Amino acid sequence: MGAKFHVRVTLELCNFGYWTTYVYGEKHGRHFAPSRSRGPRIKTPLPPRPQGEPVVLNLDHRNDEIEHAAPSIISVKNLTKTYASGLQALKDVNLEIRRGEIFALLGPNGAGKTTLIGIICGLVRSSEGTVIADGHDIVTDYRLARTKIGLVPQELSTDMFETIWATVSFSRGLFGKPPKPAHLEKVLRELSLWDKRHQKIMTLSGGMKRRVLIAKALSHEPEILFLDEPTAGVDVELRRDMWAMVRSLRSLGVTIILTTHYIEEAEQMADRIGVMSKGEIILVEDKTKLMQKLGKKQLSLQLQQLLTKIPEQLTQYELELSKDGGQLIYNFDARGERPKIADLLRDIAELGIDIKDLQTCESSLEDIFVNLVRAHS
Ligand SMILES: Nc1ncnc2c1ncn2[C@@H]1O[C@H](COP(=O)(O)OP(=O)(O)OP(=O)(O)O)[C@@H](O)[C@H]1O
Ligand SMILES: [Mg+2]
Repeated sequence: MGAKFHVRVTLELCNFGYWTTYVYGEKHGRHFAPSRSRGPRIKTPLPPRPQGEPVVLNLDHRNDEIEHAAPSIISVKNLTKTYASGLQALKDVNLEIRRGEIFALLGPNGAGKTTLIGIICGLVRSSEGTVIADGHDIVTDYRLARTKIGLVPQELSTDMFETIWATVSFSRGLFGKPPKPAHLEKVLRELSLWDKRHQKIMTLSGGMKRRVLIAKALSHEPEILFLDEPTAGVDVELRRDMWAMVRSLRSLGVTIILTTHYIEEAEQMADRIGVMSKGEIILVEDKTKLMQKLGKKQLSLQLQQLLTKIPEQLTQYELELSKDGGQLIYNFDARGERPKIADLLRDIAELGIDIKDLQTCESSLEDIFVNLVRAHS
């Protein structure tokens, strides 16, 4: 249990009809004030209050919760979805997305990721539950909710006979936003599409078409961006470009939710990771904590002679002996303390145990999912 904070939240009116929230607090009687850049400074449209009038809340927070005293930008509550076929794609999903974070939603095929995103973006109707996006209910207040959200869909679907420029301009217009060529130019330049803006989409490569989908999603300057497997089937270079772009969007304050099957992508990009399986969110965790779990490696040593038990001298290594006694298995955390493989091999040699062969393997994302799902059920 972390240290207790008394948190004082002060709301101040700032320009453009937004409130800016600064959080100040005390720790063990000492005052601290998170810096502007690091602290939970949140811009939220709130009902007007007289300028300068502070609202003081006294909250009791656990250490690790203080940064998140802010309301979520997306709040999903008790969401279920049963398709007409009778398939229950979402089962009582609850999820809070923090303002300004990059959230990676992982899960095996069919877990319900695209369904969840589809509901939040207003493309799929939920069966039960509510979703609030930046203060707007996605059903009762759908117009405003949708202007806040941009979606890069999993499937490549756009008008192939249109030019890039026409498609992107049309997308912006769909959200009732006035034309802003300078913004569209910036987006197209960032995605290296500017020189091709008069080309028909059908003449572009797969990776470029995917960039057009991103440009469309950004055309109306959304505050929340969903990327549903943005890098599936794209080359390494484009993947890295996308990561850079996602990071730059985040630095502008855009909240990003992405799905991916690439562990490296989640590792590079995400602040937090959610894992879905069979329509349920089975885990939501900070990336660094989860990566420690994902970083498990295994060394298997095939032995010349069968062992009946693990020798006393090797107990410090937490080894496993295979059922037939022909294999010693050493599980270690590749990211944690430096693995003691060299020591282990030396000790094994000193005991006169001959090794026939050795293998190392790293758990794949699917392995981890299977383990998580198994642990969950
Ligand atoms: N329109 C639909 N009608 C009926 N069932 C559907 C429909 N769309 C999705 N499903 C089913 O809902 C479940 C969840 O699908 P969803 O596309 O949300 O999964 P996903 O996690 O995005 O998977 P992937 O990683 O393959 O993209 C699957 O069993 C799928 O077959
Ligand atoms: Mg999907």
